[in-house]
Amino acid sequence: MPNSTQSPYLLLANIGQLLTLRGEAAPRRGRDLQDIGLVENAAVLCGGGKILAAGPQRELLRDPWLRTNRRKVRELDCQQRVVIPGLIDCHTHPVFAEPRLVDFEKRIGGADYEEIAAAGGGIRSSVAAVRRSSRGELSKKVLAALNAMLEQGTSVVEAKSGYGLTLEDEVKSLEAIRDAARQWPGEVVPTLLAAHVVPQEYAGKADDYVKKVCDEMIPQVAKKKLAKYVDVFCDRGAFTQEQSERILAAARKHGLGTRAHVCQFTAAKLAPLLEYQPASFDHMDCVQPEDVSLLARGETVAVLLPGTNYFLGHTGFPDARRLIDAGVPLALATDYNPGTSPTPSMPFVLSLACTHMKMTPAEAIAAATINAACALRLQQRKGSLEAGKDADMAVFDVKDYREIAYWFAWDRCVEMVVAGRVVGLGTLGER
Ligand code: NIG
Ligand code: FE
Repeated sequence: MPNSTQSPYLLLANIGQLLTLRGEAAPRRGRDLQDIGLVENAAVLCGGGKILAAGPQRELLRDPWLRTNRRKVRELDCQQRVVIPGLIDCHTHPVFAEPRLVDFEKRIGGADYEEIAAAGGGIRSSVAAVRRSSRGELSKKVLAALNAMLEQGTSVVEAKSGYGLTLEDEVKSLEAIRDAARQWPGEVVPTLLAAHVVPQEYAGKADDYVKKVCDEMIPQVAKKKLAKYVDVFCDRGAFTQEQSERILAAARKHGLGTRAHVCQFTAAKLAPLLEYQPASFDHMDCVQPEDVSLLARGETVAVLLPGTNYFLGHTGFPDARRLIDAGVPLALATDYNPGTSPTPSMPFVLSLACTHMKMTPAEAIAAATINAACALRLQQRKGSLEAGKDADMAVFDVKDYREIAYWFAWDRCVEMVVAGRVVGLGTLGER
């Protein structure tokens, strides 16, 4: 008989509440965002890294295969806790070397993010340290962040470059992401964000930098297969609408997906950017009414990042209710980065979504699982617990799923299962 701890089969038993998020592999909109597929007294059977069955424990245990093979199956007693799909953090910037403490204190003293950036702080002040760092040093930092995310329930992370801003340093940053991803059990989706800000050496020559991004960086990164997406920061103080379009066009030409930071400080015109079929528009603090209805008719996911509003000390937050009620597909992410959101915690983002954006806990969880999977175009494999999908799950030490968003700054995630394997936060009883 095989040793059950190395068994390819895993049974999560005695689950108090299981959120399956089952349904169409498509973004949830409007009222459907509430639909989290709650099953009480549930179990999940995994095999070969995939979900074989998920549902009421009574039904699952009647399965003839399980009845004959139960002793070959490793079993985890969830002790009536809550199990949800692994959280998906679909927007992060983990390749940086240092926290930005000078900016932090300047903001406390009354300066705002844009003033600090214009005075040479902001994104540009993270660039020198990344350029000085080796690939190995950066990959250690990325891995530490990925592990902190995993501990709080995240099993899929989108990770951007964007603090190198030369061909060499952007490639180094993406290689650091790849090196870290290879040592991490979850899945990492790499994104080239060379168009994060115009670097100092191109001051007054932004178009020359855009040309370099389009003609050198995007083609090289595509050739080396270092990124799946190209992102651009389209806003006041970063790249214009027209420059952003050139960057997204180059991405498409080289076979890469697109996404964009838009409408954080100023409203962009979204229709021209939609021509490049972006997987997501991220931030979306200030969206024009005509663009809301445009997004409601399309597949591009609006990714809201309330950690940035919190950390920048803003009183306003993106208007999630307006977007949800109009039928815009919406996701949530941390935006983990040193300037605007130094948190690895998706549960904290869920809390912010409920307290500051008036999303219900059910909506917030759907936005951080199935809709976040859609924002990365991974919805065929990720984001819900259904037969055939990847067996990625987070176990929270709570009785009711609403507690995941209720307790804040309190890490209640006690176990992670990734690709059908317990990755070992290690607090649950095993049989
Ligand atoms: O998503 N808005 C642009 N980029 C990041 C901030 C990066 C930084 O300040 O270092 C963001 O908020
Ligand atoms: Fe960002």
